Amino acid sequence: MATRMDAVQSPIIPIIGGMVRSTPGTISLGQGVVHYGPPPGAAQAVIRALSEPSTHEYQPAAGIPPLLERLAAKLRSENGIDAARGRRLMVTAGGNMAFCHAIDAITAAGDEIILNTPFYFNHEMAIQMADCVAVPVATDERHQPRVDALRAAITSRTRAIVSVTPNNPSGAVYPEATLRELDALCRERGIYHICDEPYEYFTYGAARHFSAGSIPGSEAHTFSLYSFSKAYGFAGWRIGYMAYPEHLEAPMTKIQDTVLICPPVASQLAAAAALDAGRAYCEPFIRELASIREMVLAQLATLAPRVQMPAADGAFYCFLKLDTALDPMTIAERLIREHRVAVLPGTTFGMHDGCYLRIAYGALQKATVEEGMGRLVRGLRAILV
Ligand SMILES: Cc1ncc(COP(=O)(O)O)c(C=O)c1O
Repeated sequence: MATRMDAVQSPIIPIIGGMVRSTPGTISLGQGVVHYGPPPGAAQAVIRALSEPSTHEYQPAAGIPPLLERLAAKLRSENGIDAARGRRLMVTAGGNMAFCHAIDAITAAGDEIILNTPFYFNHEMAIQMADCVAVPVATDERHQPRVDALRAAITSRTRAIVSVTPNNPSGAVYPEATLRELDALCRERGIYHICDEPYEYFTYGAARHFSAGSIPGSEAHTFSLYSFSKAYGFAGWRIGYMAYPEHLEAPMTKIQDTVLICPPVASQLAAAAALDAGRAYCEPFIRELASIREMVLAQLATLAPRVQMPAADGAFYCFLKLDTALDPMTIAERLIREHRVAVLPGTTFGMHDGCYLRIAYGALQKATVEEGMGRLVRGLRAILV
């Protein structure tokens, strides 16, 4: 029987993960996770909460008050977003769920959502699962959005443009001016701007993160999505959240009530404690990542001009363009089987024109990334003969 899932690509991480498991000793530069765990206060909060009956019962759909209060304060002070003016806050089981909720709340079957390519594969998947159409629009050679091309892609079926900054998979950080232009375009054309910002703290050098949700007048059309997974080493706790336009409260509540009922209470208490530790907890890890990134960039530079990579000033990804007619999945498989290092093929991120690979350097200690990069450089030299 045909279902709408037939059109959805299979998640790449388990596919590459299977190859890694069947090739012992492989170093994975595949999955986008960090190598550190949550602040100690998060686990202590959960231990304390275990003896509270309320931990084991349903709680408010949008999130528990102590977490919502802390999130509102964080959004105000760090992102410049006033969650109380024209917006609502909702906690979800991770940022992916916030994105799915947003798509469900604003679309009917057959509507279009514009993605900048390369895109985050779960965004395309979520759009297709909602019976909608993901419309890819190529970014420029630095993987920055081309506002004119986005404008030209808008049709009467377009419901939103998605911005991911800092970007997965390219590492590009969108400048404030571009985000302002994009947000104004969405406002002018009566469509939504979905801003996915799980890597907001992960910027390097002079790059600065900017939240389009801070723009005055953005509240009626802009979603701001965040996650604890990366910043707080929380991937398994499944906590994300979003500030969304208040006129969508009724549909959003229907979706949350049906899909999740309420976010896991123990995880929310852990998240509230993580916010008490705050950004200061993440910063030493991000400084360490900055030095790993320098090493990764230096290694990749030795592969020029066969391998090109525009500046990747954020997140913990590099997106390589290879000068070859080979298919990226074949290269990814050969890198695992012959050189015991795993990366992801660019086709997964919507790049079908040319050969691209994504490297993730957040999940491992520096020495392991160094060894993995050595294997990657040797492997690509051997493959790209
Ligand atoms: C751009 C982007 N959005 C959302 C997510 C999902 O994060 P979460 O674990 O909060 O669902 C990821 C994870 O890799 C991501 O890269």
